[in-house]
Amino acid sequence: MKVLVIGSGAREHAIVRALTLDPTVDAVVAAPGNPGIAALVPCEALEGGMADADAVLEVARRYEVDLVVVGPEAPLVAGLADAVRAAGLACFGPSSAAAVLEGSKAFAKEVMSSADVPTGRALVCTTVDEVDDALGALGAPHVVKDDGLAAGKGVVVTDDRDEALAHGRACLDKPGGRVVVEEYLDGPEVSLFCICDGQHVVPLAPAQDFKRVGEGDTGPNTGGMGAYSPLDWAPAGLVDDVVARIAQPVVDEMHRRGTPFVGVLYVGLALTVRGPRVIEFNVRFGDPETQVVLDRLRTPLGRLLMAAATGRLDELEPLRWADEHAVTVVVAAAGYPASPRTGDVVTGADAAEAAAAEAGAYVLHAGTVRSADGSLVSAGGRVLSVVGRGATLAQARERAYAAVDGIGLDGSHHRRDIAEKAERGEVAVPVAG
Ligand code: AMP
Ligand code: GLY
Repeated sequence: MKVLVIGSGAREHAIVRALTLDPTVDAVVAAPGNPGIAALVPCEALEGGMADADAVLEVARRYEVDLVVVGPEAPLVAGLADAVRAAGLACFGPSSAAAVLEGSKAFAKEVMSSADVPTGRALVCTTVDEVDDALGALGAPHVVKDDGLAAGKGVVVTDDRDEALAHGRACLDKPGGRVVVEEYLDGPEVSLFCICDGQHVVPLAPAQDFKRVGEGDTGPNTGGMGAYSPLDWAPAGLVDDVVARIAQPVVDEMHRRGTPFVGVLYVGLALTVRGPRVIEFNVRFGDPETQVVLDRLRTPLGRLLMAAATGRLDELEPLRWADEHAVTVVVAAAGYPASPRTGDVVTGADAAEAAAAEAGAYVLHAGTVRSADGSLVSAGGRVLSVVGRGATLAQARERAYAAVDGIGLDGSHHRRDIAEKAERGEVAVPVAG
């Protein structure tokens, strides 16, 4: 089969890499891709952006692809998967109607309530007074979320009521602005990707993401600064429990509403003293968790995504996983997340890639471009995602950081503590008492 992957981040680089390792995949093409992806497969520009369905379909037809895989949320919310399916092609990604699970936090809460899915109490607000009342009603720590898409940066968690109110006001100032004020959920966070075909659910291995920019989980939220998988500390039965109580009921509810969910239902969870609670849904693979989850997946990815896109997940054999640990560390540009600086030269990425086989580490590209003279230059907030793999979590971390240390990018920053607590056995689910 031939596959077209839409996107340009390290997540898409990881997806393309996994597809090229699938013996049933004859060809992969990416649009728009990035310099790292271009080293593996052809990349096609999308002048009108990733939501330009005509341009995507033109590439799909030119390469005679059988399957289109959509990476990011924005084109999904804009209806790219609908257009691809309407053209008679298989698409891995939800319709615009189903993508509202990520596009509106208020909608996600409503679906969860209909499907009786455990999540934090939340109040949807359209005025500053309502936000103020909600903050008082739910108490500190305050969780204030922009209702719409905000690339992981629309959420403020703070003990400072004025800061919470100010964030609420800023979100409401946008046209059609709505704010969700939510109960604070205490406990370690887990990302579980559930592959869905509209009716069936196949969970991948859980991962943990590091959202805050600074070490020790300090500073503002980002798209994600690193991740690891598996989670040796997670309770036995967690995945089955989350599928049974969360993912399957949501898939059933979306099916019942006539807007079946096809693609990845990304379940962001807090493991609280009262059990797993949904923090958020996303409708696509998470970045950077995908980098570590796909590193360990041994079932051919093309077969899995095609089965989901064509409603045949129930025919798939159980997934196979490498018995290894994977860690990814994001190298971010100066100024990320507030105002990332671009145009700095990246050194060492190609060398790290060349040494990959022996070093047990490799480099995935995100915000990079090739300049006219062939040098690699930063072009976004998250520039690279460096993956290390090992027999133990400690070894995977060591290899990831050794590769990170070989990379030069002026002003860049990364967290040194990705998966550190897990390595030390310091992550635990709170218990009642
Ligand atoms: P979201 O965009 O909803 O994933 O939120 C981004 C991050 O904010 C999450 O990964 C959490 O770290 C934090 N967060 C969101 N909602 C809550 C909540 N109700 N309680 C505690 N932390 C939260
Ligand atoms: N890593 C979080 C996300 O992809 O939204």
